[in-house]
Amino acid sequence: MALICIDGPSGAGKGTIARLLADKLGYALLDSGAIYRIAALAALKHGCDLNDEAALVSLAAALDIEFKIDAQQTQTLLNGEDVSKAIREEQTGMAASTIAALPALRQALLERQRAFNRAPGLIADGRDMGTVVFPEAEYKFFLTASAEERARRRVLQLQQSGANDIDQDKILADIKARDDRDMNRATAPLKPAADAELIDSTELSIVQVLDVITSKLTL
Ligand code: DC
Repeated sequence: MALICIDGPSGAGKGTIARLLADKLGYALLDSGAIYRIAALAALKHGCDLNDEAALVSLAAALDIEFKIDAQQTQTLLNGEDVSKAIREEQTGMAASTIAALPALRQALLERQRAFNRAPGLIADGRDMGTVVFPEAEYKFFLTASAEERARRRVLQLQQSGANDIDQDKILADIKARDDRDMNRATAPLKPAADAELIDSTELSIVQVLDVITSKLTL
């Protein structure tokens, strides 16, 4: 059974790559960021203080999460309600990054993430897949791109989804703020595992990144 971890900062293309790879190999997919986003959304909906670790832990323990996946998209259900769009909002991402710094919350979500590992294999994407959640994984990739390129991709994505009023400077500032918080927290900070393969996708297309990854796999 193969376990493939893809870690890296937001906007590096992990989600797309992980989904395409899972589809190609017929493996299960863990979008761990979505789990933090769902917890954040539930907290916002319940008016829960984002620093109240105990309240967040009990909220997280009771979450009923379901992912419905195909090659094009992932539908995310929270207590049966489709929250696919809501979890992608900027506000939810920021809240996810805030609560993700809390050690007890991370601990509460650990087994839930590990439960995704099943035959014939798993593609896990996030910040600490290769370092904390699946340190035993045989394949670990750390996918990065410059903050400017990640902001450019985000702007493109927003334009394609029909958004107007896009503030490019704010998007870049938000990406940098999130990087800073994800990399500098004490628990499970964003960093490559010692045995991870680094891939800088700044100048690479999705197909090229997929080629680099598949060329390293001996499945
Ligand atoms: O990958 P993403 O943008 O959907 O993740 C949202 C936030 O969740 C991110 O800012 C940090 C946090 N996160 C984390 O701490 N650990 C993970 N394995 C995945 C995400």
